[in-house]
Amino acid sequence: MKKKVICVVGTRPEAIKMAPVILALKQEAWSDVKVLATAQHRQMLDQVLEFFHIKPDIDLDIMRPNQTLAGLTARLLLAIDEVLEAEKPDVVLVQGDTTTVMTVALACFYRRIPIGHVEAGLRTWDIQNPFPEEANRVIAGKLAKWHFAPTEVARQNLLKEGIAESDVLVTGNTVIDALLMTASRPLKTTVPLDDSKRLVMVTSHRRENFGKPFRDICEALKTLAERNPDVQFLYPVHPNPNVKDVAHEILEPISNFILCEPLDYAPFVAAMKRAYLILTDSGGVQEEAPALGKPVLVLRDETERPEAVEQGVVKLVGPNYENIVREAQRLLDDAGAYKEMARGVSPYGDGLASKRITETLREFFS
Ligand code: UD1
Ligand code: UDP
Repeated sequence: MKKKVICVVGTRPEAIKMAPVILALKQEAWSDVKVLATAQHRQMLDQVLEFFHIKPDIDLDIMRPNQTLAGLTARLLLAIDEVLEAEKPDVVLVQGDTTTVMTVALACFYRRIPIGHVEAGLRTWDIQNPFPEEANRVIAGKLAKWHFAPTEVARQNLLKEGIAESDVLVTGNTVIDALLMTASRPLKTTVPLDDSKRLVMVTSHRRENFGKPFRDICEALKTLAERNPDVQFLYPVHPNPNVKDVAHEILEPISNFILCEPLDYAPFVAAMKRAYLILTDSGGVQEEAPALGKPVLVLRDETERPEAVEQGVVKLVGPNYENIVREAQRLLDDAGAYKEMARGVSPYGDGLASKRITETLREFFS
């Protein structure tokens, strides 16, 4: 008898990082794969699923404009429980640290359904940062049966929390599987760029930065763009109203700043390949950019992804006006400093993470 595996996706990064696992599981004779979209994100989730030709079997359509964490959690918990009752899966896979992940883990725990956690063990050890993701992944980690850790650092974090060695497997991050699947295709950016100019890419959406820190980030970007009229800046703006409204207010008037809607995954990868430098608070972008040989300045004070920082290709600048302006300007002006950070390294994976995850589940169920 086939085993029923439910793969859950809620937001854009979960879909990008779960897609290679879903596609690999669909090739397995033993597994009956069902895709559950909570649709914590709507447009951004659909963009990714379409790109990977994945059609959800169940779609909870949960997103509401400017949703609160409590409202989202409450609606998700009941809706997921109904799915679990109807579907009775043998295993549920979740990815990352969103509200979807934490809530699915809890709902499965209540029904004693085993969970596999993809991208397990990322920690800053500061429960407030990133908010609420550190709490989400600690809770999911406490409840999971299989911990698919992307790196040895992540594995050690789980062991420190008392997780048994036998339950943790270092797989690499599936984001690199997705990146290699995508970057090998012919890619085009969908925004008009001036090929004679250097490109600085920006993404920013973290909840702990909402308010003054995010305003400071935007003011620093404005200063950089004004000081460097020969450089183009591209910022696909996250649709969260706390981000979108401020970004447009501060950056729209700047002529060398292109603000656009979130890009589809392939054009976004194309733009990263085209970029000179990337400024971001995104987790996924911190993992992808080093593999593409692009220096990253992280708009956060802490990161749960220390590997690339230790290798000197990613630097933390915080949501801090002076640091952002100084470090970005240095990389624009100093070719030696730039070259040091533009070494292509891939501490987060080799493109085979989804294969390792699938093999573990195959062995268990056979
Ligand atoms: C969520 C995750 C965060 C992840 C990020 C990736 C939580 C608490 N946060 O943050 O960990 O890094 O996704 O992008 O799980 N919206 C749209 N359309 C979309 C997506 C979002 O309009 O396709 C708007 C809606 O108004 C929505 C709001 O953004 O209410 C916030 O979405 P939500 O998923 O709650 O949080 P994010 O800030 O996107
Ligand atoms: N991404 C995308 N289009 C965009 C911005 C980002 O496809 O306009 C991709 C990016 O390549 C990465 C992922 O989205 O794989 C990161 O998602 P996000 O920054 O929303 O979340 P995080 O990784 O911080 O949880």
